[in-house]
Amino acid sequence: MPKKVYIHTFGCQMNKYDSETIAGILQDYSLIDDPEKANLILINTCAVRQHAEDKVYSLVGRLSIIKKDNPDLKIGLCGCLAEQYGENLLKRFSALDMVIGPDNIYKLPGLLDELYKGRRIVLTGHPSESVRSLPTKRVDKIKAYVPIVLGCNNRCSYCVVPWTRGNIRSRTPQQILNELKNLANSGYQEVTLLGQNVNDYGCDFKDSPIAGLKSVAGLEPVAGLEPVDFCKLLIMVNELDGLKRIRFITSHPKNFKSELINTLPQLQKVCEYIHLPLQSGSNKILKLMNRGYTIEFYQQLVEDIRQKIPTVSITTDVIVGFPGEEEEDFNQTLKAVEEIRFDSAFTFKFSPRPNTPSATYPDQLSSEVKQDRLEKLIASTSRITKEKNSRLIEGIEEILVEGQNPKDTSFFMGRTRTDKIVFFKANADSLIGKMVKVKIIGCGTFSLKGELL
Ligand code: SAH
Ligand code: SF4
Ligand code: F3S
Repeated sequence: MPKKVYIHTFGCQMNKYDSETIAGILQDYSLIDDPEKANLILINTCAVRQHAEDKVYSLVGRLSIIKKDNPDLKIGLCGCLAEQYGENLLKRFSALDMVIGPDNIYKLPGLLDELYKGRRIVLTGHPSESVRSLPTKRVDKIKAYVPIVLGCNNRCSYCVVPWTRGNIRSRTPQQILNELKNLANSGYQEVTLLGQNVNDYGCDFKDSPIAGLKSVAGLEPVAGLEPVDFCKLLIMVNELDGLKRIRFITSHPKNFKSELINTLPQLQKVCEYIHLPLQSGSNKILKLMNRGYTIEFYQQLVEDIRQKIPTVSITTDVIVGFPGEEEEDFNQTLKAVEEIRFDSAFTFKFSPRPNTPSATYPDQLSSEVKQDRLEKLIASTSRITKEKNSRLIEGIEEILVEGQNPKDTSFFMGRTRTDKIVFFKANADSLIGKMVKVKIIGCGTFSLKGELL
């Protein structure tokens, strides 16, 4: 009888991909969705804010109870929190058998025997062998995430990711293209290229800033290929047969090159969608955050992108309540979001993280001030999102149908090229995975309503 693994995933798309990899490499295990029937429970964790951390601890508490009735069950913690606290987590939670950081999951199959012998395991760090291609067992059959670059070399002063994911390591173009070809051959329609900062793709390749095929991370150079940066990689990906849509996240404003802006309109499969985190509208705060751009630079960048790609949807991340953020700074953020008019915005209260410089900056703000600013910001960004959505009413959109609306199965759900969700009435399962045209007939803040044409 195959053993059974239950995987619970928190956090970002990179974590979702890692969970699919874990499911793929645990070949002796079948993936189940009931933790009570599992031989192995893995919790893939996120450390980006305190709230993400707290959610993990409460799940560990709940799952520990299952272990009392099932002493053979093993529980492992993977992901960014595992990397951040390592052994301390084993000390803190007696129910945990294993703590394994994101760059060590490829070792997992070889560790399981040890685990079942009763050894408690901690594996953290960023070995260069982690830049590799592993089998995946994917949840979705239509769209897939594919990492192009691991880690991050930026040091935004609030961010834990460079600690948990390590320095930048780009996958080679061959690794990426092979994975994409396999996805295309298996019928996938849409891929999202992943990186903490995709614009840095290739900057770590040895011998030349973008000499993509030299000896990176111990891999042999492959003859006959040109040096590759993000723009060149996108051109190569766009030429692959089979895939219909290509997306990428996340773009850091500071090195979004004009060459990329000029190239994007020529890449037919690359969708008109750019996630471009602003973080703050105040130059004082941007500097304290170590973001490497000013609000004027950011606004000019948005203008340049919109000029070349008029139908583009631009989304963002904003943090409120960064240490030292005065009313005046916050008002500049409000002014910026009103002027820029994002298609949508993810908004966060600043959360001090271990090891990050801003956790010890003076002038930390109270949770009341943060909450108040968050609410004001959300009122503004969601009003703008809805206004932007309402402008699409009466227009025709091409959407990739992803599935039925679980809340009302007479409705199907798909996304526009600009990543907006559209619900529409239909009664044929056969639409799933197809591109269809819909007329937009209504909208809310988070979705559009369409009519199948
Ligand atoms: N590499 C990506 C994503 C980083 S994490 C990027 O550079 O955009 C996703 C978002 O979480 C960030 O854009 C930021 O807005 C938010 N975030 C990161 N650290 C945070 C912290 N300490 N407190 C609050 N929000 C944070
Ligand atoms: Fe964190 Fe900044 Fe790197 Fe994004 S670019 S992962 S916010 S350090
Ligand atoms: Fe992702 Fe959270 Fe780690 S956002 S990179 S899982 S800290």
